Amino acid sequence: MSSWMVNVVAGLFVLLSLTGLFFFVLTRGALLVRGFSSTQNSAKSHVYPLYSDMWLIKLVDFQPIISAILLFQYSTLVSKIVAGLGATSLKNKKVLITSCAFGNVIPRVVDAAVQSGAEQVLIADIIRNELDHAEGKLGQYAAKVAFVEDNATAMTQQEGCADANVIFFLLHELPHDLKDKALREAGRMLATGGKLYLAEFHRPDVAILRLLSWTYFKVFEPFGLALWDTHDPVKCLNELGGWSCERQTYFFGNFQVITATKL
Ligand SMILES: C[S@@+](CC[C@H](N)C(=O)[O-])C[C@H]1O[C@@H](n2cnc3c(N)ncnc32)[C@H](O)[C@@H]1O
Repeated sequence: MSSWMVNVVAGLFVLLSLTGLFFFVLTRGALLVRGFSSTQNSAKSHVYPLYSDMWLIKLVDFQPIISAILLFQYSTLVSKIVAGLGATSLKNKKVLITSCAFGNVIPRVVDAAVQSGAEQVLIADIIRNELDHAEGKLGQYAAKVAFVEDNATAMTQQEGCADANVIFFLLHELPHDLKDKALREAGRMLATGGKLYLAEFHRPDVAILRLLSWTYFKVFEPFGLALWDTHDPVKCLNELGGWSCERQTYFFGNFQVITATKL
Protein backbone atom coordinates (compact mmCIF):
# COMPACT_ATOMS: atom_id res chain seq x y z
CA MET A 1 0.00 0.00 0.00
CA SER A 2 1.41 3.41 -0.91
CA SER A 3 2.07 5.94 1.83
CA TRP A 4 -0.79 8.28 0.82
CA MET A 5 -3.24 5.36 1.06
CA VAL A 6 -1.92 4.51 4.52
CA ASN A 7 -2.47 8.15 5.49
CA VAL A 8 -6.03 8.15 4.14
CA VAL A 9 -6.91 4.91 5.97
CA ALA A 10 -5.29 6.17 9.18
CA GLY A 11 -7.12 9.52 8.81
CA LEU A 12 -10.47 7.76 8.33
CA PHE A 13 -9.80 5.54 11.32
CA VAL A 14 -9.00 8.55 13.54
CA LEU A 15 -12.08 10.43 12.26
CA LEU A 16 -14.39 7.46 12.93
CA SER A 17 -12.87 6.89 16.37
CA LEU A 18 -13.28 10.54 17.35
CA THR A 19 -16.88 10.56 16.06
CA GLY A 20 -17.59 7.39 18.04
CA LEU A 21 -16.03 8.91 21.16
CA PHE A 22 -18.02 12.12 20.70
CA PHE A 23 -21.33 10.22 20.51
CA PHE A 24 -20.35 7.87 23.34
CA VAL A 25 -19.62 10.77 25.68
CA LEU A 26 -22.95 12.39 24.84
CA THR A 27 -25.04 9.22 25.12
CA ARG A 28 -24.05 6.11 27.10
CA GLY A 29 -21.06 7.79 28.78
CA ALA A 30 -23.28 10.53 30.19
CA LEU A 31 -25.79 7.96 31.49
CA LEU A 32 -22.99 6.06 33.22
CA VAL A 33 -21.75 9.23 34.90
CA ARG A 34 -25.31 10.18 35.87
CA GLY A 35 -25.71 6.76 37.46
CA PHE A 36 -23.27 7.89 40.15
CA SER A 37 -24.88 11.28 40.74
CA SER A 38 -27.97 12.42 42.64
CA THR A 39 -29.86 13.44 39.45
CA GLN A 40 -30.42 9.82 38.44
CA ASN A 41 -34.00 9.63 39.67
CA SER A 42 -35.46 12.56 37.75
CA ALA A 43 -38.00 11.91 34.97
CA LYS A 44 -35.37 13.18 32.53
CA SER A 45 -32.43 11.13 33.76
CA HIS A 46 -32.55 8.77 30.74
CA VAL A 47 -32.33 11.69 28.28
CA TYR A 48 -28.92 12.11 26.66
CA PRO A 49 -27.18 15.52 26.92
CA LEU A 50 -27.31 15.43 23.13
CA TYR A 51 -31.00 16.33 23.43
CA SER A 52 -30.76 18.80 26.30
CA ASP A 53 -28.18 21.38 25.34
CA MET A 54 -29.18 23.67 22.51
CA TRP A 55 -25.69 24.04 21.12
CA LEU A 56 -25.29 20.25 20.94
CA ILE A 57 -28.70 19.86 19.31
CA LYS A 58 -27.71 22.44 16.69
CA LEU A 59 -24.27 20.92 16.22
CA VAL A 60 -25.60 17.43 15.46
CA ASP A 61 -28.87 18.10 13.67
CA PHE A 62 -27.73 17.91 10.06
CA GLN A 63 -29.70 15.72 7.69
CA PRO A 64 -26.70 13.84 6.19
CA ILE A 65 -25.41 12.94 9.69
CA ILE A 66 -28.84 11.83 10.88
CA SER A 67 -29.49 9.85 7.69
CA ALA A 68 -26.11 8.13 8.03
CA ILE A 69 -26.89 7.09 11.64
CA LEU A 70 -29.99 5.33 10.29
CA LEU A 71 -27.96 3.73 7.47
CA PHE A 72 -29.58 6.05 4.92
CA GLN A 73 -33.04 4.58 5.60
CA TYR A 74 -34.27 7.73 7.35
CA SER A 75 -36.16 9.11 4.38
CA THR A 76 -37.81 5.75 3.60
CA LEU A 77 -38.99 5.35 7.19
CA VAL A 78 -40.41 8.87 7.31
CA SER A 79 -42.08 8.30 3.93
CA LYS A 80 -43.94 5.29 5.30
CA ILE A 81 -45.39 7.42 8.13
CA VAL A 82 -46.15 10.29 5.78
CA ALA A 83 -47.95 7.90 3.40
CA GLY A 84 -50.05 6.58 6.30
CA LEU A 85 -51.04 10.10 7.35
CA GLY A 86 -51.72 11.00 3.72
CA ALA A 87 -54.08 8.05 3.34
CA THR A 88 -56.15 9.07 6.39
CA SER A 89 -58.73 11.80 6.53
CA LEU A 90 -57.69 13.97 9.47
CA LYS A 91 -60.21 16.75 8.82
CA ASN A 92 -60.70 18.75 12.02
CA LYS A 93 -58.67 16.16 13.92
CA LYS A 94 -55.57 16.45 16.04
CA VAL A 95 -52.21 14.76 15.39
CA LEU A 96 -49.72 14.18 18.16
CA ILE A 97 -45.97 13.86 17.73
CA THR A 98 -44.67 12.28 20.91
CA SER A 99 -41.06 13.41 21.25
CA CYS A 100 -38.99 15.39 18.82
CA ALA A 101 -36.31 13.93 16.56
CA PHE A 102 -33.46 15.22 14.48
CA GLY A 103 -33.66 15.68 10.72
CA ASN A 104 -36.74 16.55 8.70
CA VAL A 105 -39.20 14.05 10.19
CA ILE A 106 -41.13 16.73 12.09
CA PRO A 107 -41.65 19.12 9.15
CA ARG A 108 -42.57 16.18 6.90
CA VAL A 109 -45.05 14.74 9.40
CA VAL A 110 -46.56 18.15 10.12
CA ASP A 111 -46.91 18.85 6.40
CA ALA A 112 -48.59 15.47 5.79
CA ALA A 113 -50.96 15.99 8.72
CA VAL A 114 -51.93 19.48 7.56
CA GLN A 115 -52.41 18.27 3.95
CA SER A 116 -54.77 15.60 5.32
CA GLY A 117 -56.84 18.27 6.99
CA ALA A 118 -55.57 18.14 10.58
CA GLU A 119 -56.77 21.04 12.65
CA GLN A 120 -53.75 20.96 14.92
CA VAL A 121 -50.47 19.13 15.37
CA LEU A 122 -49.35 18.89 18.96
CA ILE A 123 -45.65 18.27 19.52
CA ALA A 124 -44.78 16.94 22.97
CA ASP A 125 -41.28 16.55 24.37
CA ILE A 126 -39.80 16.33 27.83
CA ILE A 127 -37.04 18.82 26.91
CA ARG A 128 -37.92 22.46 26.27
CA ASN A 129 -34.87 23.04 24.05
CA GLU A 130 -36.00 20.25 21.72
CA LEU A 131 -39.39 21.92 21.32
CA ASP A 132 -37.78 25.30 20.65
CA HIS A 133 -35.48 23.70 18.09
CA ALA A 134 -38.42 21.94 16.39
CA GLU A 135 -40.33 25.23 16.32
CA GLY A 136 -37.47 26.73 14.33
CA LYS A 137 -38.14 24.19 11.55
CA LEU A 138 -41.86 24.86 11.32
CA GLY A 139 -42.24 28.56 10.53
CA GLN A 140 -44.77 28.12 7.73
CA TYR A 141 -47.01 25.87 9.84
CA ALA A 142 -46.90 28.03 12.98
CA ALA A 143 -50.67 28.57 13.08
CA LYS A 144 -51.36 24.83 13.09
CA VAL A 145 -48.74 23.62 15.57
CA ALA A 146 -48.64 23.67 19.36
CA PHE A 147 -45.65 22.71 21.51
CA VAL A 148 -46.00 21.19 24.96
CA GLU A 149 -43.48 20.07 27.51
CA ASP A 150 -44.78 16.64 28.43
CA ASN A 151 -43.53 13.18 29.34
CA ALA A 152 -44.29 10.36 26.90
CA THR A 153 -44.53 7.97 29.84
CA ALA A 154 -47.01 10.09 31.84
CA MET A 155 -48.83 12.34 29.39
CA THR A 156 -50.92 15.22 30.72
CA GLN A 157 -52.95 15.77 27.53
CA GLN A 158 -56.63 14.89 27.38
CA GLU A 159 -57.30 11.19 26.92
CA GLY A 160 -58.31 10.32 23.33
CA CYS A 161 -57.27 13.78 22.10
CA ALA A 162 -55.47 12.63 18.94
CA ASP A 163 -56.36 10.63 15.83
CA ALA A 164 -52.75 9.92 14.95
CA ASN A 165 -49.70 9.67 17.16
CA VAL A 166 -46.17 9.54 15.73
CA ILE A 167 -43.30 8.18 17.82
CA PHE A 168 -39.99 8.24 15.99
CA PHE A 169 -37.10 6.29 17.56
CA LEU A 170 -37.97 7.04 21.16
CA LEU A 171 -38.58 3.56 22.61
CA HIS A 172 -35.00 2.30 22.22
CA GLU A 173 -33.79 5.15 24.42
CA LEU A 174 -36.18 4.43 27.29
CA PRO A 175 -35.45 2.09 30.21
CA HIS A 176 -37.60 -1.02 29.82
CA ASP A 177 -40.32 -0.18 32.34
CA LEU A 178 -40.73 3.19 30.61
CA LYS A 179 -41.10 1.52 27.20
CA ASP A 180 -44.27 -0.19 28.45
CA LYS A 181 -45.54 3.03 29.98
CA ALA A 182 -44.88 4.99 26.77
CA LEU A 183 -46.86 2.47 24.71
CA ARG A 184 -49.74 2.55 27.19
CA GLU A 185 -49.74 6.35 27.11
CA ALA A 186 -49.56 6.37 23.31
CA GLY A 187 -52.80 4.39 23.30
CA ARG A 188 -54.43 6.51 25.97
CA MET A 189 -53.84 9.65 23.89
CA LEU A 190 -55.55 8.15 20.81
CA ALA A 191 -59.25 8.20 19.98
CA THR A 192 -60.77 4.85 18.99
CA GLY A 193 -59.77 4.10 15.41
CA GLY A 194 -56.73 6.36 15.75
CA LYS A 195 -53.35 5.23 14.49
CA LEU A 196 -50.01 4.99 16.20
CA TYR A 197 -47.01 5.23 13.86
CA LEU A 198 -43.93 3.85 15.53
CA ALA A 199 -40.52 3.87 13.81
CA GLU A 200 -37.79 1.88 15.54
CA PHE A 201 -34.85 -0.47 15.28
CA HIS A 202 -35.61 -4.15 14.67
CA ARG A 203 -33.62 -7.38 14.86
CA PRO A 204 -31.76 -7.66 11.54
CA ASP A 205 -32.27 -10.79 9.41
CA VAL A 206 -28.62 -10.98 8.34
CA ALA A 207 -25.98 -12.27 10.79
CA ILE A 208 -23.31 -9.64 10.03
CA LEU A 209 -25.80 -6.81 10.44
CA ARG A 210 -27.03 -8.40 13.66
CA LEU A 211 -23.49 -8.47 15.01
CA LEU A 212 -22.84 -4.82 14.05
CA SER A 213 -26.18 -3.74 15.43
CA TRP A 214 -25.66 -5.69 18.68
CA THR A 215 -22.25 -4.01 19.12
CA TYR A 216 -23.76 -0.59 18.46
CA PHE A 217 -26.42 -1.10 21.14
CA LYS A 218 -23.99 -2.57 23.67
CA VAL A 219 -21.65 0.41 23.26
CA PHE A 220 -24.00 3.34 22.73
CA GLU A 221 -27.63 2.54 23.50
CA PRO A 222 -28.02 -0.27 26.03
CA PHE A 223 -31.83 0.04 26.24
CA GLY A 224 -32.24 -0.71 22.53
CA LEU A 225 -31.48 -4.42 22.32
CA ALA A 226 -34.66 -5.42 24.17
CA LEU A 227 -36.66 -4.29 21.14
CA TRP A 228 -35.40 -7.47 19.45
CA ASP A 229 -37.20 -9.76 21.87
CA THR A 230 -38.51 -9.00 25.38
CA HIS A 231 -39.72 -5.52 24.41
CA ASP A 232 -40.65 -6.07 20.81
CA PRO A 233 -43.22 -3.26 20.40
CA VAL A 234 -45.74 -5.42 18.51
CA LYS A 235 -45.54 -8.07 21.23
CA CYS A 236 -45.97 -5.38 23.93
CA LEU A 237 -48.93 -3.78 22.13
CA ASN A 238 -50.59 -7.19 21.70
CA GLU A 239 -50.06 -7.91 25.38
CA LEU A 240 -51.63 -4.57 26.29
CA GLY A 241 -54.60 -5.50 24.08
CA GLY A 242 -56.94 -3.29 22.07
CA TRP A 243 -54.59 -2.87 19.11
CA SER A 244 -54.42 -4.14 15.55
CA CYS A 245 -50.79 -3.99 14.43
CA GLU A 246 -49.08 -4.06 11.05
CA ARG A 247 -45.32 -4.10 10.83
CA GLN A 248 -43.07 -3.34 7.87
CA THR A 249 -39.34 -3.92 8.14
CA TYR A 250 -36.56 -2.24 6.18
CA PHE A 251 -32.92 -2.75 5.26
CA PHE A 252 -32.57 -6.49 5.95
CA GLY A 253 -34.89 -6.16 8.93
CA ASN A 254 -32.75 -3.54 10.69
CA PHE A 255 -35.60 -1.03 11.03
CA GLN A 256 -39.35 -1.20 11.39
CA VAL A 257 -42.38 0.99 11.07
CA ILE A 258 -45.38 -0.26 13.02
CA THR A 259 -48.82 1.07 12.21
CA ALA A 260 -51.07 0.19 15.12
CA THR A 261 -54.77 0.97 15.06
CA LYS A 262 -56.54 1.50 18.37
CA LEU A 263 -59.61 -0.77 18.42
C1 LIG B 1 -37.12 10.56 19.72
S1 LIG B 1 -35.67 10.38 20.55
C2 LIG B 1 -34.41 10.28 19.35
C3 LIG B 1 -34.65 10.00 17.96
C4 LIG B 1 -33.46 9.90 17.07
N1 LIG B 1 -32.25 9.50 17.76
C5 LIG B 1 -33.31 11.17 16.33
O1 LIG B 1 -33.21 12.23 16.91
O2 LIG B 1 -33.38 11.13 15.11
C6 LIG B 1 -35.13 11.88 21.18
C7 LIG B 1 -36.18 12.81 21.71
O3 LIG B 1 -36.98 12.16 22.67
C8 LIG B 1 -37.17 13.07 23.74
N2 LIG B 1 -37.56 12.29 24.92
C9 LIG B 1 -36.82 11.41 25.61
N3 LIG B 1 -37.54 10.89 26.63
C10 LIG B 1 -38.77 11.45 26.56
C11 LIG B 1 -39.95 11.32 27.32
N4 LIG B 1 -40.02 10.51 28.37
N5 LIG B 1 -41.02 12.05 26.97
C12 LIG B 1 -40.97 12.88 25.92
N6 LIG B 1 -39.88 13.06 25.16
C13 LIG B 1 -38.79 12.34 25.47
C14 LIG B 1 -35.84 13.79 23.87
O4 LIG B 1 -35.95 14.98 24.58
C15 LIG B 1 -35.52 14.02 22.39
O5 LIG B 1 -36.12 15.17 21.90
